Amino acid sequence: MKYSLTDGTLHELRTPCLVASLKTAKSVARALGHSDIFSRSTADFKDQAEQILVINLPGAVSRLLIVGGAEAAMSADAYRKMANAAANALLKLPVKQAVMALAGSRAQGKNTEWKLRTLTHAMSYAAYRYGKHKSKAPAAPDLNTLRLHVANKKDAANAMKFGNALDAGLALSRDLGNEPPNVCNPTYVLREARKLGRHPNVKVTSLNEKQMADANMGAFLAVSKGSDTPGHLIVIQYNGGKRGEAPVALVGKGITFDTGGISLKPPPAMDEMKFDMCGAAAVLGATKAAIEAGLKLNLVTVVAAAENMPSGGATRPGDIVTSSSGKTIEILNTDAEGRLVLCDALTHVQKFKPSTIIDVATLTGACIVALGSHASAVYANDESLAKALLKAGDESGDKAWQMPLWDEYQSALKSNFADMANVGGRDAGSVTAACFLSRFVEETQWAHMDVAGSAFMGGPRKGATGRPVPLLFTYLWEQANG
Ligand code: BES
Ligand code: MN
Ligand code: ZN
Repeated sequence: MKYSLTDGTLHELRTPCLVASLKTAKSVARALGHSDIFSRSTADFKDQAEQILVINLPGAVSRLLIVGGAEAAMSADAYRKMANAAANALLKLPVKQAVMALAGSRAQGKNTEWKLRTLTHAMSYAAYRYGKHKSKAPAAPDLNTLRLHVANKKDAANAMKFGNALDAGLALSRDLGNEPPNVCNPTYVLREARKLGRHPNVKVTSLNEKQMADANMGAFLAVSKGSDTPGHLIVIQYNGGKRGEAPVALVGKGITFDTGGISLKPPPAMDEMKFDMCGAAAVLGATKAAIEAGLKLNLVTVVAAAENMPSGGATRPGDIVTSSSGKTIEILNTDAEGRLVLCDALTHVQKFKPSTIIDVATLTGACIVALGSHASAVYANDESLAKALLKAGDESGDKAWQMPLWDEYQSALKSNFADMANVGGRDAGSVTAACFLSRFVEETQWAHMDVAGSAFMGGPRKGATGRPVPLLFTYLWEQANG
């Protein structure tokens, strides 16, 4: 979807569809001399929230898509629901272009920029289709260009930059997540990452398994050694900021399929473990959005891409490995593989001397037990970073919730034979996983996001959500512009 602005007089527009409140639609119909059609067609319309009515008119504005409740003062959440309802209805129409005039509706405490971001985000989310592997691809929506009507274009240009960049980042992230695991293996992830390197300010490099062995990344390699498809540690450097300024670092778990390894997972829903690279997909999507928007900051994104398979060469429960930090790990459960690839990725990213590190991972089933799918979990060694991420979640509607990273939980990782075990007990599984990662970050301010519940959906709407790309991109935007 392409987004742009318009500030013309509404009834002088030429458009196959105008999306507006009942009151605005009425005045446009009147100005066009169609009051009769309008009052007859809207006779039964109650103008309630999330109610939609489409009227066809003869002339320059050939459809009015009327959005219920759009004149009322709304909470931010209600505005978001309205945006989603309007987006879904608009995408069902056989129109290639449309004008949306909902930025004038009132959302408590929110300005025009926020409303435009919310409208474009809703459209991008709703317009996404993934039909690549169907012999008859599902009909994509006809709409490809949306103009957003505003009183003054000047204050709104930034929101369009945001909306167009987020659109691209979300789609990349969801495509990567949805791709089947026989296609999207570590090499595929590397190829996709390299595409970002076409931009002049972007450099993509990677370590293969030999280079990782030379760097003593025994934890990462313990995961990928059971697979015939070799792992890659991918590094994307985007230089949009001042020379020499410390970069923000993003790190993503990219397990392209998680069988559990020798600690094999049970069959039900194992196919969903193709989504175990959604952390990687999210940091790649956020990086793409940052590049598209030309954010004025330096960014280093590290993706740990590997496959967790059982084989004659796979890691056994009880194996002890040495990570590149020098710390030894007793692998008690080969299904706790995300933290193993991430600990070496975290050690590696610190070579770039980042100001901040944020890692994103579908790390634990326990996170889903704790928070379900509505919130991503945030852990941080720094309160201001946690607050900034939660705020970005609130702003973008891509919500997150802070979890404790207290010392009390660290003792769960005790091992009789190595510096630590790779699993704690049954209790607080998402917290002890975060505790494990915390041991591999030295001084840098760092946050970990467990997105096991938010990054994809199971059941009849099975698919990647692209979360937390909106949160991450909002955070990066704020760092660059705030
Ligand atoms: N990728 C899984 C976590 C997961 C499960 C994500 C379900 C999304 C949906 C992770 O690698 C894993 O298997 N974690 C184990 C950890 C346990 C062995 C300590 C888990 O959650 O059971
Ligand atoms: Mn696992
Ligand atoms: Zn996993």
